[in-house]
Amino acid sequence: MKKTLFSGIQPSGTITIGNYIGALRQFVELQNEYDCYFCIVDQHAITVPQDRLQLRNNIRSLAALYVAVGLDPNKATLFVQSEVPAHAQAAWMLQCISYIGELERMTQFKDKSAGKEAVSAGLLTYPPLMAGDILLYGTDIVPVGEDQKQHLELTRDLAERFNKKYNDIFTIPEVSIPKVGARIMSLQDPTKKMSKSDPNKKGFISILDEPKQIEKKIKSAVTDSDGIVAFDKENKPGVSNLLTIYSIFSGESIENIVNKYEGKGYGDFKGDLATVIISHLKPIQDKYHHLMESAELDEILDAGAENANKVAGKMVKKMENAMGLGRKRK
Ligand code: TYM
Repeated sequence: MKKTLFSGIQPSGTITIGNYIGALRQFVELQNEYDCYFCIVDQHAITVPQDRLQLRNNIRSLAALYVAVGLDPNKATLFVQSEVPAHAQAAWMLQCISYIGELERMTQFKDKSAGKEAVSAGLLTYPPLMAGDILLYGTDIVPVGEDQKQHLELTRDLAERFNKKYNDIFTIPEVSIPKVGARIMSLQDPTKKMSKSDPNKKGFISILDEPKQIEKKIKSAVTDSDGIVAFDKENKPGVSNLLTIYSIFSGESIENIVNKYEGKGYGDFKGDLATVIISHLKPIQDKYHHLMESAELDEILDAGAENANKVAGKMVKKMENAMGLGRKRK
């Protein structure tokens, strides 16, 4: 029997090449090997304010991107989190075994709540919802970028705690982080991760950016004053980040790329990098626009929700039984 894989992305804005490199690209490679569930985690998205029409649009757009990058609905279950009530049910039960202290220690919570006057309780209880996502499917492996590692550790802790305290029903999931590209950095501040919620749009490239925008953003990407194309994360974080992106989108090794630009300046390097990104994204964008116009997406998501509901519904019952919720039934 195939092992189970679960991962999710928030429909909270445009999907960046960071999400693509750190997560989506892995999903496509792994879908043949595992029994896969790829979720559009809209309930996570509302832990910060969202415009309702924009959110609806982002959900559809992310579903189209899942398919456009190469996820095959015949192989993997693609679905929207809020269409599977078991996720919120599991989240509540897992919140009740989570400690406020451990939730407050999550770096994502600290980052997102820093300096804010009104912080939603949902932002704090975000990780038990994520743990529910994963544990409901008996997940063995979770491919994510590096920023999600801490949430995965908490998921494992919660699973172990539940198994020990109530009944041994959860598989303890392993995290899978790509060797290269686990943390793509902002183009404007290469000490910060590239983020779709960055107010400075020059900091990220969206998978859906037009060629002209990509050229402009790469051109204005922060580098250094050396003028030497070399990989050195510590001293040359900007150039190293661009080299990583170049290598992933072209399939060439970083060493080869460095050799190619010996004696040349950043201008040539950046110009070619923009071309490499544009040509890699073109077929994805074409497929995306076609899908957004078709009725296919709704069929895919309906079928996905039906399958996910079956699997997750069973696990939620097991959780309720283990905790003694509801009445005993035959
Ligand atoms: P999200 O929506 O922020 O990001 C989706 C995925 O993209 C990865 N990622 C990156 N990888 C490399 N470089 C970057 N700059 C970069 N930015 C983002 C993230 O690590 C992630 O894999 N909490 C999750 C969503 C989630 C989830 C889950 C994931 C909810 N439930 C269950 C796995 C399993 C999040 O906010 O990802």
